[in-house]
Amino acid sequence: MSEPAMPPTAAHPTASRSRLIYGCMGLGGAWGSPHYGAAEVDHAAEAIEAAQGIGIDRFDHADIYRGGTSESVFGEVLARSAGLRERVWIQGKVGIRLGEDGLDAYYDLSAEAIEDRVRSTLGRLRTDYLDCLLLHRPDPLLDPAEVGAAVVRLLDSGAVRAVGVSNFSAAQMAALEDHLPGPLAANQLELSLGRHDFVDSGILVNHAEGTGVAFPHGTLEHCARTGAEVQAWSPLAGGRYTGRPTARHDQAGPHAEAEVGTGRLVGEMAQAKGVTREAIVLGWLMRHPARIAPVIGSANPARIAACAGAEGVAAAMTRPEWYALYTAARGRRVP
Ligand SMILES: NC(=O)c1ccc[n+]([C@@H]2O[C@H](COP(=O)([O-])OP(=O)(O)OC[C@H]3O[C@@H](n4cnc5c(N)ncnc54)[C@H](OP(=O)(O)O)[C@@H]3O)[C@@H](O)[C@H]2O)c1
Repeated sequence: MSEPAMPPTAAHPTASRSRLIYGCMGLGGAWGSPHYGAAEVDHAAEAIEAAQGIGIDRFDHADIYRGGTSESVFGEVLARSAGLRERVWIQGKVGIRLGEDGLDAYYDLSAEAIEDRVRSTLGRLRTDYLDCLLLHRPDPLLDPAEVGAAVVRLLDSGAVRAVGVSNFSAAQMAALEDHLPGPLAANQLELSLGRHDFVDSGILVNHAEGTGVAFPHGTLEHCARTGAEVQAWSPLAGGRYTGRPTARHDQAGPHAEAEVGTGRLVGEMAQAKGVTREAIVLGWLMRHPARIAPVIGSANPARIAACAGAEGVAAAMTRPEWYALYTAARGRRVP
């Protein structure tokens, strides 16, 4: 018999888990190929081991990653590692359809799709339950009452233990929460030194520059009020400040200058503190009082290991250091 369902609330026991989450989008071989072999499973095992090596015990998935093979190779690793499922916390996402029905992409948060896709995910992951399910992107055609009913069925059946969202605004969260037995457990958003508009939206209130900010104003505050965990996707900004050569380095203009300048500052701080550049970039995010949980996506074991120490960097980061990184990334001083 399944355990009694928990309400989809932030009372979920993530407090006893790692703050960093390992994002599994890079596992499972090439995008567009439904096939994987021993090499892809071994690679996934190495990445999982590297993540565990720096204390990570939370793993983020989505049914669309590599067409499902990210989940499949993870499931293979779970199947061959006795007791691993009990030691880790697994999050899945559903709601995006890629390459179906003649469309490149569309969103589907109908009850039928949510429940079907969760069943498929559990099959690929070879597990009976997800510790957390996220609704991947807001579907403009979603019916909150219908989604709420599907969520309750999934919780009651024990297939999922908590429910959150990804890329939702505060207003969208609240509209859904009206139809749920409790507040959403999490919201996963793109947040990083490279996507610092979550900070911009807070400081540019009543400022002309604020009209161009894409981040949904008030979303972090909503999460703080309800207890939803704020998770950051692409927290390393794809390596932009930690050594990945980008086209922008060769281009002129304020964005390129800000990027190069931020990369330089990250490097100097890392050297001065005796830590990695990854720890500085993640530490900057984790210093924010929203208690952001970065979902790191490197599939390279050495780069995963380089993320160690981010929490310590965050705890020691001074206000001037934090603002120096923010204004460097922003490319101009605060108003
Ligand atoms: N909710 C959503 O809508 C959403 C969207 C996207 C992603 N996600 C989640 O967020 C996770 C992280 O996303 P992400 O992978 O985009 O973000 P990330 O952690 O910011 O960046 C990791 C990516 O950058 C590359 N990279 C990092 N440092 C590098 C360096 N020094 N040189 C070269 N390449 C470098 C990595 O390549 P290597 O693998 O070679 O290190 C990897 O492709 C995903 O795994 C997924 O779980 C969620």
